[in-house]
Amino acid sequence: MAGRPYIVGNWKMNGTRAMLSEARAIDRAAQRHMKVEVALAPPYTLIHAVHREVEQIGVGAQDCHPGIDGAFTGDISATMLADAGAKFVIVGHSERRVGHGESNDLVREKAQAALDAGMRVIMCCGEDAPTRDAGKAIQFVTGQLKASLPEMADAGERLTVAYEPIWAIGTGNNATTDDISEMHREIRKLLVSLYGEEQGSAVRILYGGSVKPDNAKAILAADEVNGALVGGASLTADSFMGIALAAG
Ligand code: G3H
Repeated sequence: MAGRPYIVGNWKMNGTRAMLSEARAIDRAAQRHMKVEVALAPPYTLIHAVHREVEQIGVGAQDCHPGIDGAFTGDISATMLADAGAKFVIVGHSERRVGHGESNDLVREKAQAALDAGMRVIMCCGEDAPTRDAGKAIQFVTGQLKASLPEMADAGERLTVAYEPIWAIGTGNNATTDDISEMHREIRKLLVSLYGEEQGSAVRILYGGSVKPDNAKAILAADEVNGALVGGASLTADSFMGIALAAG
């Protein structure tokens, strides 16, 4: 079984130290709602500060470099992120795959680097609108995942998958709960085939794409949805915790 619902806020390229008060408020609220696991992925510049400010919620990063160290100006390694207090890394977000041309191979190497540094991984996947319109969403997403996921013995503990249809991110358009569940069931089948029944069943599968407090309850109640990866609505404690409360 996939365990407690997992609600993760991805602040993307938002947030200065003024946002630490939101992180503190999220943390206080999360302490009162232990049925749900809450986590935040602030920008690199705030990871250490958020880590120091919070007691309950998990803190993670939005990306990492696949290498350990070296002459890579502007990049950040997984080891550095763990040292700053990160407990997980989001890899393969469409804003990296599409916006930065990241291949499945690179995403897999990044995931491996995060695991090697002792962190957990949130692996994103998702199709664009033309792919869904062509009826190829499941084929695309399962292929993308198969090529991006690293081998691991403890997937149930250390891996989370986030299904985020690209056309739903930041647009206010959601997939229907039927479409979400259909995709999540296919992802579950793939996880079981890759990692075995016990480990594959324990991986949490999140939905992401315009999740808001007013639609969260229906989405989070859908079959095989184990939580949400939230962008815009994670930027204030009120809306983010509105989503977390809808989870349990
Ligand atoms: O990582 C989060 C997703 O891209 C969803 O973003 O909630 O702003 O649509 P959004």
